[in-house]
Amino acid sequence: MLKIVRISAFALIAVLLVGWGMVWLRGGGMKLGLDDLGLAIPGGVLMGGPFTLVNTAGETVTEETFRGRWMLVYFGFTYCPDVCPTELQTISSALDRLGPQARQVVPVFITVDPERDTPAALAEYVKLFDERLVGLTGSKEQIAAAAKSYRVYYARAKAKDTADYLMDHSSFIYLIGPDGGFRALFRHGMAAQEMADSLKSRLAPGG
Ligand code: NI
Repeated sequence: MLKIVRISAFALIAVLLVGWGMVWLRGGGMKLGLDDLGLAIPGGVLMGGPFTLVNTAGETVTEETFRGRWMLVYFGFTYCPDVCPTELQTISSALDRLGPQARQVVPVFITVDPERDTPAALAEYVKLFDERLVGLTGSKEQIAAAAKSYRVYYARAKAKDTADYLMDHSSFIYLIGPDGGFRALFRHGMAAQEMADSLKSRLAPGG
């Protein structure tokens, strides 16, 4: 009997872990994030790092371009029906709540759909959300390398209509420090005020 209980407990834990992993991968509607678990992730160890991408002006940029400023990095795609727009609005609203301190932060949107999200398409898209939002795209290889740096999962989702498709992608917002080191992970669905409070506690006072 005890053995059965042990096996059941082990099975339950395994199911929970697999479930958490799958939800993380799909990035949809997840409420549990590393912030909730109270995990402090050492700067620069797990996520973030070098990238070479292309901005909306068609210029090549790297992680060095943003040194000296904080970055809020989000991966998504412009055809995303709901998750990406929600997260981008949250970022914009969190920055609005910071006042002059917002000048220390660059919000960055990196597409996981470079085929459709050309520099011109991204330029049109980002300005719908926030004038401060920097849109980045690149070759398939450049996007894959950036996503790997940030441990971002993405994949083209099958659609009945072959002319159109969606992208599955994980949905975390990464906070990168002025030194380029990873600082925090904001979960999907976080309230703008909570994000603003977390940023405020880290940013230098004033503008
Ligand atoms: Ni999305």
